[in-house]
Amino acid sequence: MTMTITPISNIMGAEVGGIDVTHPLDEKTSQDLRDAVFEHQVIVVRGQHPTPQQYVDFAKAFGELEPFFLSNYNLAEQPEIYVLSNKRVDGKPVGRDGAGTHWHSESTFLDNPSAITLLHAVEVPEEGGDTLFIDTYSAYEDLPDHIKQRIDGKRAIHRYQKKEFVFSGDHSPDADERTQIADLQLLREVEAYVGPASPTARAGEIMPAQLHPIVRTNPVTGRKALFLNEEMTVGIDGVDQEEGSELLHEVCRLATTPDRILRFQWRPGDIVIWDNASTSHTATYTDPRYPRLMYRLTIEGDRPY
Ligand code: SIN
Repeated sequence: MTMTITPISNIMGAEVGGIDVTHPLDEKTSQDLRDAVFEHQVIVVRGQHPTPQQYVDFAKAFGELEPFFLSNYNLAEQPEIYVLSNKRVDGKPVGRDGAGTHWHSESTFLDNPSAITLLHAVEVPEEGGDTLFIDTYSAYEDLPDHIKQRIDGKRAIHRYQKKEFVFSGDHSPDADERTQIADLQLLREVEAYVGPASPTARAGEIMPAQLHPIVRTNPVTGRKALFLNEEMTVGIDGVDQEEGSELLHEVCRLATTPDRILRFQWRPGDIVIWDNASTSHTATYTDPRYPRLMYRLTIEGDRPY
């Protein structure tokens, strides 16, 4: 099969054809796929239905896999796979619900945040559940000079915070959906209260804060990109708390205006692969009546510089 690459928007992103992830990739195809990720920042390979083991084997083309640091929603047989889902079986969650509903790139609360993410759509809701992306190269390049001067050379303080059902990246939920979200939040809080102590909830207390440059250099392309997410950052190193928060908020606001957003609408069998050093993303609202089941894999990264 010959690999094809077709852009999917004017912002960024491409669909890659001619790939079957259930078979081992040869070295040239693996290299071409890696190149496509760094050139297009977000790529989608459609119509893929691998077993968990085939999915893990495919992902190794991008580097070393890392299990999510909290193991409660990692698959037992393939612990590298982190399950994201709103589904319940016999009242028990099959995956983490409501995660990533704010602009972020993966695991910035760690010293070495993930380089690449792969997300496989196993079950897609009838409506909603899109993922939004922005290009953090142009988000940086387009900032006014007076803001660039204030952030260049500065480091943000990143801290793990349990962020579920935040929806800072998607302002589309209507009044009814807002009510449903509030009910769901309440239900999850009650479940967490009566159930076993959740490692997800406790992690914020035990994880040390990390300092990462607000403007990072992409380790593959050498280009500068914004490296920020409002919900996991608690300030700017060496800057007064109030001033730092205001500045972070303003930079995030400018970076995520609607004209910058690529809205990805999932089809079952999509595998989307993105470069965390040149993009930021957010999950969006999924009506709890419509099941959504996603398998996430992440590739180890280096310390941002
Ligand atoms: C993530 O934030 O890693 C997942 C995004 C999504 O579920 O749409």
